[in-house]
Formats: sequence, structure tokens, C-alpha cells
Amino acid sequence: MKRYLEGITPVTVEEEVSTRLEVSDHLRKHEGPVLLNRITGYPGWRIIGNICTSKKVFADILEVPDDRLLDTLVESISSPTKYNKASEAGFLQNEFNAPDIIKKIPLVMYYPEKERYYTSATIFLALDPDTGRQNASFHRMMHLGKNRFSVRLVPRDLFNFYKKNQQNGQDTRVVVICGVHPAVSLAAATSYPNLDELELANTFLKGSLKCLDMGGIDVPVDSEVVMVGRLLHDEVADEGPFVDITGTWDKVRQEPIFEVEKLYMQDDPIWQVILPGWTEHRLLMGMTQEPRILNIVRNSVPSVKDVVLTRGGVGWLHAVISIQKRHEGEGKNAGLAALSAHPSLKRVIVVDDDIDVNNSESVEWALATRLRPDEGVAFVKGARSSSLDPSSAGMGVATKWIIDATIPLDRDRRDFEKVEGSWS
Ligand SMILES: Cc1cc2nc3c(=O)[nH]c(=O)nc-3n(C[C@H](O)[C@H](O)[C@H](O)COP(=O)(O)O)c2cc1C
Repeated sequence: MKRYLEGITPVTVEEEVSTRLEVSDHLRKHEGPVLLNRITGYPGWRIIGNICTSKKVFADILEVPDDRLLDTLVESISSPTKYNKASEAGFLQNEFNAPDIIKKIPLVMYYPEKERYYTSATIFLALDPDTGRQNASFHRMMHLGKNRFSVRLVPRDLFNFYKKNQQNGQDTRVVVICGVHPAVSLAAATSYPNLDELELANTFLKGSLKCLDMGGIDVPVDSEVVMVGRLLHDEVADEGPFVDITGTWDKVRQEPIFEVEKLYMQDDPIWQVILPGWTEHRLLMGMTQEPRILNIVRNSVPSVKDVVLTRGGVGWLHAVISIQKRHEGEGKNAGLAALSAHPSLKRVIVVDDDIDVNNSESVEWALATRLRPDEGVAFVKGARSSSLDPSSAGMGVATKWIIDATIPLDRDRRDFEKVEGSWS
């Protein structure tokens, strides 16, 4: 983490800040990185947040212009590379056995009223019990007291590992890291079958990732904090409520317990936070779905140009796709492909390639001037829905919709094109 921080200039806050609600107040005031240098009750600690609040951060890391970012992500995901192993790591300097975590780490409470002390930027490293493949994924953790947390596990890779081990009466060994290079964060946020996310991070970092083998699990050596322990197979606890990317309270669930056996940290450690429901949270979640959507839409509509999960659609539920339409009906095909590529998607708008998908006014202009709703809007009933969408919460299925706002091919395109110098 510190290697990355040397190259950026975060806003720094010198006044003493409490972990209870004050950290989040400071993060809300700024769009970019914020470094809090004095934390009440935690001498020597600093807290950083808002690291990944724009796609530019990743275009800079990958050294590509902004308009090449999506294609570069697609290429990187298909070419993960083996990272180098290290024999030592800075975090080994400070080691604690089964500590009371909140006495050692400045866990943060982000929202008043209902919330508890949470980690929001913690990445779990674990091995598939069948294949030995390593997985990395973000999971928030709610502090339960002492060395225990409840962990939100959405049914994906780590959840599957946990279930397989549980069936065999075994705990799941995990290493949890916090305070990492944004390339590691972006890789950990991806969800592709059989992908080793640290190998993807190594591709993002042009081969410079170094990892220490900790009992068979590889751990990036510049992680600020490392917790080694187990997800217990025979105990669950309340997790939540927590503010998710929708900006609404996610409900309380019974979730697995993580018991920390060893805690390691760098000298002068920096604790990383992601403000729940804010830009960084939505961007990291959604950005990694865009290459997947692009890839799958490209299979049926090769002329697809751009994809975005929109800010207003919480970076997760609404997409806009631009295509260069060659055959009538391709707008709907693109929409259907997108809905299956990202099952949490609720609505997809398909526009022609002269429309900027990142500009919501431009997209609305396309709807206003090109869409005939009776023809262009299609509903797909009874499809699997996002657990995050309050309107379908608990049902598991929802109605999805496609809006095809592309110009019909049998019409004169010039009737629809924006006149140079007109309203913009
Ligand atoms: C900031 C952030 C927080 C996340 N929090 C959780 C979480 O608490 N629980 C969860 O299951 N997934 C969470 N996710 C999603 C997973 O990390 C992500 O989908 C991951 O790619 C799953 O990977 P996998 O398919 O390799 O298991 C979060 C993602 C981000 C970017």
C-alpha cells in the first residue's frame, strides 16, 4: 500500500479523528483519497479511504488512455500471470496471537443508529478445497468482540469453499488482508470462474506483485494488515444491518464467523476503509462487471462499442450499452446478452454508437428522440434478481427490462443525428 501512496497526493487531515462516525464524515467531504493522520485511541495508526473513486485511477495504473481502459481490462482478465514469491514481508514485523481486534485496529463505525464496528476493505484469500486454486474476494466483517467477526458471504467462490468444508465437518482456513495496492483491490473485486485474482493483479501491475507463502496461501507482501484464521464450520451469528451500494440498509442475516488466530501489521500501519454506499464501493463492484458484459455482448453483437454500469443505477443494477447496429433486432440481442452476463442487472438501455454511454443527458436524449416505447421496451419476467434491490428483496426473482433506443435501420439516419452546433 505504501508504495502506491508514494505516487499520489491524498487530502491529509491532521486533526484527531474518532473511528465512531467521524472518519466517514471526512470521507464524505472529498471525492478523492483522504489520509487521516491521527486517530483517537490508536496512536501510530493512520486511516486511508476513497482511493478508487474514479476509473482514471485504474487507467493510470494500467498506463492506458481512459477510452482504452475497458478493452485493457478484458485483455488482462484473459491473461493472468504468475507473480513472484518473496521470502519475507514487512507485516511480519508485528505479530499478535488471537488479539481483541478493536484494541489493535481502528475499526470504523460509518453510519449512526443501527451500525456496529465494521471492516469494509477486507479481502479474503482462501483455497478451493477440491482444486487448491487460490481465490481473493472482498467481504465486509462486523466485529462481534475479541478476535471474532461475522462475515457477509454472498454465494460465490468463498461461500462454496466454506460449504464444501462444512459438509466435511471442517473449518475454512483464510488469510484476510487490508491496505493493498488498488490493482489488488480491482482484481479481488472481479468474479470470474477459475481465475486466480492475485495473478490478475500481477498482470495489472506488469509483473511486479510479490507474495509470501503463509501456510499455502499467497499473501501480497505490501499488505498493511494481515489476519490469519478460520471461518468456523459450526457457528453463525448476526451480520448487519449494513449500508450497501444502494445506499439503503441491507438486512440482518445469519452469517459465518471468522476467528482470528494471528494478526500481523506493518510498522506505522495504515488501515484502509471503503465508505459503504459511496463512490468507491459502487465503482469497485461495478467496474469489474463491465468487461464481463462487454465480452458476452460481443459474442452476439460483435459491433458493441461501450458498456457502463451507471452511477444512478448504483453501479450495479442499470447498464447502458452502445452498439453500431448492423441488423435489425441487435439492440434487443445486446440487452438480452447483458442481462445474462450480469444476473444482478435490472435494466439495460441500448443506444447507437454516437451516444456517450457515460453521459446520462446524452442517453436520455436518445430515449427522447429515438425510442418508440411500444416497440423498444421489452420485459423479462421471473428472472433471478439482485439481493441488493429493495424492490425485489426476499423474492429472489424480478422483472428485468430492456430499452432498445437504437435508430430503426429502415429509417433515414440523418433524421436522428444531432445537428452540429445544436443543443448539447
Ligand atoms: C468494496 C466491495 C465490498 C464487497 N463486499 C462483499 C461482501 O461483504 N460479501 C460478499 O460476498 N461479496 C462482497 N463483494 C463482492 C465480492 O468481493 C466480489 O463479487 C468478488 O468478485 C466475488 O469473487 P468470487 O466470484 O471470486 O468469489 C464486495 C465487493 C467490493 C468491491
